[in-house]
Amino acid sequence: QLSHEELRERVQQVKERMGTRLFLPGHHYQKDEVIEFADARGDSLKLAQLSSNQSDAEAIVFCGVHFMAETADILTRADQKVYLPDLRAGCSMADMADLNQTEKAWEKLQEHFDDTILPLTYVNSTAAIKAFVGKHGGATVTSSNAEKMITWAFEQKERILFLPDQHLGRNTAYNLGVPLDQMAVWDPITEALLFEGSIEDIQVILWKGHCSVHENFTVDNVRKVREQHPDMKIIVHPECRREVVAISDDAGSTNHIIQTINQAPPGSSWAIGTEMNLVKRIIDEHKDKHIISLNPSMCPCLTMNRIDLPHLTWCLETVENGDPHNTIEVKSSIAIQAEKALNRMLIRA
Ligand code: 13P
Ligand code: SF4
Repeated sequence: QLSHEELRERVQQVKERMGTRLFLPGHHYQKDEVIEFADARGDSLKLAQLSSNQSDAEAIVFCGVHFMAETADILTRADQKVYLPDLRAGCSMADMADLNQTEKAWEKLQEHFDDTILPLTYVNSTAAIKAFVGKHGGATVTSSNAEKMITWAFEQKERILFLPDQHLGRNTAYNLGVPLDQMAVWDPITEALLFEGSIEDIQVILWKGHCSVHENFTVDNVRKVREQHPDMKIIVHPECRREVVAISDDAGSTNHIIQTINQAPPGSSWAIGTEMNLVKRIIDEHKDKHIISLNPSMCPCLTMNRIDLPHLTWCLETVENGDPHNTIEVKSSIAIQAEKALNRMLIRA
């Protein structure tokens, strides 16, 4: 059993020996013990952009979750290999939409709405869902560009199907002026379209998926912060429920949250509703501001946390020794279609 310091030393040594042959991107939700070694930190958009135009590295060891590593594989050259330090680092939201369910939903929705729907998928989805969307003329979105991409989608078709996060879809469409009663929810389990207004008026069909981390922030959390800290500003990620976003002071992507706190004046106070590894890091980096989590008993994202220092060390050493295990390789028939959906976003992002 190696100590934390010995593991850090070994990671550092592989990085030094491999130099520019290795690239290590890290999502902001990664643990401190991992993110300290990242060559670049970013939210989903930045990591997708980096994958499409970053260095010539032959090995990309992705510190994030499975769908992010798949995206990196799709957007890099065939001779660049992508590895995920722990294959169990999935995303429960991405797993909420599978291809079979999506094809069935699409068929039923065509019966209701003919050819008036454009599919969009949050990048937090499997490569197979991105390929489905790409094949039907749609695009991916991230939380940083969702407004831009939904606006683009409405220039193409009358309606959108938004996969797999209902909250990001609802919050963004609402900000763009779509009334809540003109949004429906597709439940992939019961295969039912749930809506309150009239069916002809539906503009947005939201897949019934959610992030198990962000969905845990509640209206009660907001009320408690307002009671205990009346001067505190509340900023949340748009993966939070509509009712939480509605009563918060601000909502935006991971990048928006980081920028807002960076630009906030010393002495200001903030409650942040997003993933806990990031909130803790923001607290550490802004000692001149009073910052708390909107829900201090919240856990970090469990799957992001699968990438830890021992897995990172093992993965890097197997890659360096030419005996890699956790290669993420998207089948080319899927990658071709998925890349279309990603590129429709990347040229506009
Ligand atoms: P962003 O990085 O786009 O803010 O997404 C948040 C997230 O949940 C990543 O898994
Ligand atoms: Fe998935 Fe939510 Fe974790 Fe992001 S924070 S990886 S969306 S479960």
